[in-house]
Amino acid sequence: MSASLSFHGAGVFLTSFTPVRPSTFTGLLLITSICVYLYARNAIKHHHDVEFGKRMGCKPSAAKLVYHWPLALDIMKDGFRAGREKKLLAFFTEHFNQLSPTAEVKILGGIGYVTQDPQNIQALLSTQFQDFHLGPRSLAMKAMIGDGIFTQDGTAWKHSREVLRRQFMKMQYQNLKGFRKHLETLMERLHTSSGVTDLQPMFYRLTLDTTIAMILGQPVGSFKHGIGDLFSKAFDQASLVTGTRVRLGDMYFLYCPRGFIKACETIRRYTYQFATEALQREVESPVESDKTSFISELHRDNQDLQLVRDQVLNVLVAGRDTTAATLSYAFHLILRNPTVLETLRCEIVTVVGHEKDISRAHIQQMPYLHNVLQGTLRLYPPVPINTRFCRKTTALPVGGGPDGRSPLLVREGMPVAYSVYHMQRRQDLYGPDPLAFRPERWDGSELASIGWGYLPFNGGPRLCLGKDFGLMLASCGIVRIIQEFPGIKLAPGEVLEEPGTERQHLTLTLSNAQGCKVVLK
Ligand code: HEM
Repeated sequence: MSASLSFHGAGVFLTSFTPVRPSTFTGLLLITSICVYLYARNAIKHHHDVEFGKRMGCKPSAAKLVYHWPLALDIMKDGFRAGREKKLLAFFTEHFNQLSPTAEVKILGGIGYVTQDPQNIQALLSTQFQDFHLGPRSLAMKAMIGDGIFTQDGTAWKHSREVLRRQFMKMQYQNLKGFRKHLETLMERLHTSSGVTDLQPMFYRLTLDTTIAMILGQPVGSFKHGIGDLFSKAFDQASLVTGTRVRLGDMYFLYCPRGFIKACETIRRYTYQFATEALQREVESPVESDKTSFISELHRDNQDLQLVRDQVLNVLVAGRDTTAATLSYAFHLILRNPTVLETLRCEIVTVVGHEKDISRAHIQQMPYLHNVLQGTLRLYPPVPINTRFCRKTTALPVGGGPDGRSPLLVREGMPVAYSVYHMQRRQDLYGPDPLAFRPERWDGSELASIGWGYLPFNGGPRLCLGKDFGLMLASCGIVRIIQEFPGIKLAPGEVLEEPGTERQHLTLTLSNAQGCKVVLK
């Protein structure tokens, strides 16, 4: 009876059915087919991934970010608040301290991992480099720096890397005379300032000038007329917004505050102008082929001025803030540790004396200075957190199972964030005093086997190309300031807080939100 009723019911249903127009019907059929196809494809993919995981011995992560509101909105809310208070990395520290070095993070329904494990970071950046890519970073950064080494993947990146690598190699053999003029300009500025001086903005200006001069092959004359300040301001504004866009991943487009596009246009316009002027100068007074500038080599490579401009901007983004932040944090730490300052001053007096022309040979004879920089980059790596996206389903070496020692399945499309900042503060890697600024820890055997546990310059095929440039400039900057102002000290009222508890500014890179306030003597 129920069958007939239902059959009857079906008849009523059918007779009362309003015939749909073929186009609507075809549309519905198409949408349904697509949904079924996508569902089936995902199910098959999921099955293959699970099988792959079993073969690789993967186990699910037992460490999971704990949240209390749906979609982890409480974490998002607290994270935004910490960002506003300039304490975002300290906020992450609180959470990471409760988890294993590799943990699962589920936010807004999306799943990813966050790791501070050297083995997993080595896999991401080196041994399994092919399995990962930069994901939406290129789109998030496009408005500011267009298309270049920092945003490219695959063959485009390989090509950029090769062209830029040749240029950086050429520079490695040069002496450090190129820095001299810029360092002396900085000294002049410092001598004219009185009372409390904030070194940090001056370091940003120094690294902007040196990086531009390195790229263009000559200092930019027009920078003297206030254009440098305009450019710096636009650059800061664009970096701040771009940093947030990168952290938003696929949803980068949701964040485009007023003034952002204008700031991007300003820096692109000026860079284009500097680039064309520099190239024009080389046409008017040609130099020997082994002395051609960075920029002419870029131009010879692609002949497209817009691409040259983008590549220049990419190198500027990579080079300016990282080195300036290193200098600023170095003084932050040195001046809070008087014995470090004293040891460093003795080394400078012994090796360099009053010589203003600092050479590579001088720097190579200053192991303590090297250790000071190692220690600074350990506590404050300028690129503290970074992300890679899985290109094809793979397994990370560790992070799975209750003890986190089994391999971990990472499915295609998943983000894996890695925090060098937190890894370099781990007690199990750096001993009982991981937050202490103790340059001596780099002597002897204490950290001889640290390997991928120390990674301020990245590793693997995307290792920083400007490592030598940045370290040499930072070394010369520290030496010149301590030579010139042997009585330099912290500004009155500066707090001696534990590293990481001070306010921090997180754009594309990390810097000190409190600046670096000193009294120069
Ligand atoms: C202390 C100073 C510096 C630090 C700590 C540093 C750190 C880094 C890091 C962590 C990356 C990898 C970013 C990623 O793959 O997501 C990187 C890449 C890069 N850096 Fe540096 N950097 C410094 C200075 C410089 C300077 C001065 C320049 C240029 C003048 C430079 C040029 C580059 C370039 C071109 C890349 C891209 C490499 C590639 O993707 O193949 N860096 N740097």
